Amino acid sequence: MRGLIDITDFSVEEIDSLIDVANDIIDNPKKYSEKCKGKKLATLFFEPSTRTRLSFEAAMYELGGNVIGFSEASSSSSTKGESVADTAKVISCYADIIAMRHPKEGSAYVAMKNATIPVINAGDGGHCHPTQTLADLLTIYREKGSFDNLTVGLCGDLKFGRTVHSLIGALSRYSGIKFVLISPEELKLPSYVKNDVLKKNNLPYIQTTSLEDVIGELDVLYMTRVQRERFFNEEDYLRLKDSYILDLKKLSLAKDNLSVMHPLPRVNEISVAVDNDPRACYFKQVLYGKYMRMALILKLLEEAEK
Ligand code: NCD
Repeated sequence: MRGLIDITDFSVEEIDSLIDVANDIIDNPKKYSEKCKGKKLATLFFEPSTRTRLSFEAAMYELGGNVIGFSEASSSSSTKGESVADTAKVISCYADIIAMRHPKEGSAYVAMKNATIPVINAGDGGHCHPTQTLADLLTIYREKGSFDNLTVGLCGDLKFGRTVHSLIGALSRYSGIKFVLISPEELKLPSYVKNDVLKKNNLPYIQTTSLEDVIGELDVLYMTRVQRERFFNEEDYLRLKDSYILDLKKLSLAKDNLSVMHPLPRVNEISVAVDNDPRACYFKQVLYGKYMRMALILKLLEEAEK
């Protein structure tokens, strides 16, 4: 059964059509308000979430469907030792589609292989987070009008930041994209993303530790939080957590049409004063995430019915 585990499971044309549907939902929400009547989304969240889970739920309700699920591993049978494979088989008896977040890389794939309904990866450990990327893509599209020829800076925890891995995978398929990777030495992009995506496709990229040196060249700046929960020791986290703080002074070095993005939650990476700058896009990004999840649920349910 087809789901969405990695953003490149979908072709560029399929992503373009999700963007078209999301834009149509924004313009004509009533047209969609009963499209999922009688359908159930199961949200299986084994890891904390605010935006992703609630935006999936809001998306399903706005399509006229219903939602079942849990928001903590501790309230599920995984604490009794149930495997992801078994959970996926069980939930397939209750729901029509699954959105699952789990701390283990590869867990969404295991769920998809065992479920008889579509599975959407809502984040698998430090690996990937394709629906955040759908939100990011709609944001970039609405801000910039296209994906081609952009210089995109990704800043912060590029090692554990799953949203970064998925966004690079998605953008690697458009033309003329330049990546600027800004991170501390210890939090550089994993070599599997560098080799399998950037080098394999001959994509231009630079790596730097300084945000100030490169901010003036960027069309998009994607800030990220240092992923505390993926660190082995607290000392390293404390040393690295405030490596980058985007404030008005640094923003004054940027282009007037820069788009500042962040998947949220924000800790200290963007000072609150930046929120009022017209270049700040991160709260719009949240809203766009809901529309893209609506478009995605519609697509996967339609395909499942065929
Ligand atoms: C991100 C995640 O879960 O990876 N959050 C989100 O879904 N918007 C980013 C993060 O937690 O830092």
